[in-house]
Amino acid sequence: MPSLLVHGASGIGKTMIARNLSRKYAPEYDPPSGITRTQLLLLQAPPAPDERRFYLHILAAVGALATALSARAQSVASLEVRVIALLRDLGLRMVMIDKVHNLLAGPHREQRRFLNVLRYLSNEFEVSLVCLGVSEAVDAIRGDIQLARRLDEHHLPNWRDDAEFSDRIQTFIAAMPLEKKSNLKVTSLKQVLALTGGVTSRILALVKDLAIDAIITGEGCINDDAIARWTPVWSRHATVGRQLEKSGV
Ligand SMILES: Nc1ncnc2c1ncn2[C@@H]1O[C@H](COP(=O)(O)OP(=O)(O)O)[C@@H](O)[C@H]1O
Ligand SMILES: [Mg+2]
Repeated sequence: MPSLLVHGASGIGKTMIARNLSRKYAPEYDPPSGITRTQLLLLQAPPAPDERRFYLHILAAVGALATALSARAQSVASLEVRVIALLRDLGLRMVMIDKVHNLLAGPHREQRRFLNVLRYLSNEFEVSLVCLGVSEAVDAIRGDIQLARRLDEHHLPNWRDDAEFSDRIQTFIAAMPLEKKSNLKVTSLKQVLALTGGVTSRILALVKDLAIDAIITGEGCINDDAIARWTPVWSRHATVGRQLEKSGV
């Protein structure tokens, strides 16, 4: 089955893409057969490559929390049997695993074992495997050559100074409850990219912060001056820290 590794900076929007897709293919109950079909299963890799936790995550994700709780004390092998039996009935087509870079938080041997589980699941159920993570995830996945060979790589780049970014930031601003339209110069858009590194979550933080200022001051829109004056929230904390240090606190 075609499989994919989607990687990009933290805050670029990977989880949002995965959640949107999983909402689109939400589980459907089929009354004649009495079975709930789940075409797409979205999972999060456990904080470390831990097979047991991963199986428990799967049980919880398919609504078998009671089974998961009663299975906690069982061996990894019997957990695996339960998970496979449950997944078989779902009609799975795709398994998405977010935060695959968590794999890197464990020793090499456990990473290999965990990757084996992923490969096994995709083989056993003939599902497409979609892994999402920061770019270091690529190194994690490459730990298993067979798995890496099967996954096409797709990089989600940071926003660049182009028409797509210009459209997107207008959409973000238009979603704010502002009275007037914000007409920003090209230099301001470049400034936004420089301040945020082109990371979606930071761009949103900037837009929200400036929208709040525009409402408080009565300006009613985000203008070029406000962008020129803006300091990132994330560097403001550092400034406060430096001021406290100076005043001997
Ligand atoms: N296309 C988008 N439109 C609006 N908000 C977005 C978009 N992409 C990401 N976000 C927001 O940006 C933040 C970071 O996104 P997230 O999916 O958690 O990033 P990642 O998983 O890559 O670290 C979230 O608050 C999310 O709601
Ligand atoms: Mg994420």
